[in-house]
Amino acid sequence: MKDIAALEKNVPAAALTYDIDSVYNDFPILHKPIRDKELIFLDNAASTQKPQIVIDTINRYYQEENANIHRGVYYLSEVATRKYEEARETVRKFLNAASEKEIIFTSGTTDSINLVANAFGREFFKPGDEILITTMEHHSNIVPWQMICEDTGAKLRVAPINDQGELLIDEFEEMINSRTKLISVVYVSNSLGTVNPVEKIISLARSQNVPVLLDAAQAVAHTPIDVQKLDCDFLAFSSHKIFGPTGVGVLYGKEKHLEKMRPFKGGGDMILQVTFEKTTYNALPHKFEAGTPNMAGVIGLASAIDYVTSVGLEKIHAYEKMVLDYGTELLADIDELRIIGTAAEKSGAISFIIDNVHPHDIGTWVDRDGIAIRAGHHCTQPVMDRLCIPATSRASIALYNRKSDFDALASSLKTIIEVFR
Ligand code: ALA
Repeated sequence: MKDIAALEKNVPAAALTYDIDSVYNDFPILHKPIRDKELIFLDNAASTQKPQIVIDTINRYYQEENANIHRGVYYLSEVATRKYEEARETVRKFLNAASEKEIIFTSGTTDSINLVANAFGREFFKPGDEILITTMEHHSNIVPWQMICEDTGAKLRVAPINDQGELLIDEFEEMINSRTKLISVVYVSNSLGTVNPVEKIISLARSQNVPVLLDAAQAVAHTPIDVQKLDCDFLAFSSHKIFGPTGVGVLYGKEKHLEKMRPFKGGGDMILQVTFEKTTYNALPHKFEAGTPNMAGVIGLASAIDYVTSVGLEKIHAYEKMVLDYGTELLADIDELRIIGTAAEKSGAISFIIDNVHPHDIGTWVDRDGIAIRAGHHCTQPVMDRLCIPATSRASIALYNRKSDFDALASSLKTIIEVFR
C-alpha cells in the first residue's frame, strides 16, 4: 500500500496500517444486505456505524448495570457511577486533557456549543464585542452565536474562504482585534472535507489573548487530538460520529474558563444545595451536567473510544487518507462530475455535483445499488451560497471503508450519467 503519511513521517508504511477485513467484520450492520446488495456505507460524516463491542457494552449496561448515578448507596448505583466516571477518564485520556474536571458530558456537539454560547457568551459578551467564525461552519456553530449576539449586542463576524473551500488565513488574522471575545471554528468541514489550520488559528488567537472553541465533530474519528498540545480553550464532539451511541457528546473546556462560567441548565447533578433563597452549584465537571445524565450513552462512548484507540488513530488517519485520495482520483476522472471542496488538506468527505442531475436524484439512484451517501446542503447553507450551488452529493468515509467502496460508487454514478444524458 502506498502510504503518503508514512512516507512523510519516515515511518514504515506497515506500522501505519491495520487489518481492514478484521475491522470491517467488527461492524455487524455492514453485513446486512440493502436492497439485496452489499451495503456500502459512505455517510459517515452524518453518523457512523457501531462495532459489536459498543453494542454489547450498551446491552450489558441495561441488562446488568443500570441504575441512576451519584445518588444511590446500593450496589447497582455504585457500579453505574463508577462506569460513568471511568468513562470520563477514558475521554480525558483520549483528548489528553489536564483534568477530568475539564470533561463535560453533553448530548452532542450542538449541545456543547450551545453550552459555551450560553454559559460563556451570555456571561462575558458585551455590546460591540465580536465573535469570529468562518464561512464553512455547520449551522450548529453559527446559530447559537447569532442567538447570543441578539441577546447581548455582540457582533458575529465571518472569515471568508476561497473557491477551493480553504480559509483565507490572512483575512482571518485581520479580523482578530481587541473586540474579539471568542473564535469558534470547525476543525474539519463536514460539507467540504477541508481541514482547517487549527494550530495556526490558535496561535493567532493566542497572540491577541482570544479563546478558541474547536468544533471537532468531523475530526475526532479521523485524527489524533491532544487538547493540551493544541492549546484550544474549548473543544466539542459527538459520540455518534466516533462509533458511539447517539444522544451523547463532549465539551472539553479549560478549567480556568469553566470555573468562571455560570451553569447553563439547572437541576439534578449540577446542584450542591438548594434553598428558596439561594442555590449553590456543584463543583466541576458536574456543574454543567444537569439532570440524570445519559449513562448508557456515556459508557457506550467510552467503549467506542477504547475501540478506536485499539485500532490507533494514527493508523486510521493514514489509512483513510489513502482511501480518500483513491476515491478523489476516481471521481475526478468522471468528466461530468465536479468535486466541490478541493482544499490542499482534506479529511473524511468528498462532495460533488454532476451536470444536470440533482444531488437528491444521485442519492436515490446510488441507494438502489446499496450505497448510502448524503445529498443536500449538509447543514452548511452559507457554504453553498458562497460556492453558488444549492446542494451537493457527499461521500464520507470511516475506518471500515475500502477502496472498492469508491469503485462501486463511481460505477453507479456512471450509470446515472448515462441515464440522464
Ligand atoms: N452534520 C452532519 C452531517 O454533516 C449531520 O451530515
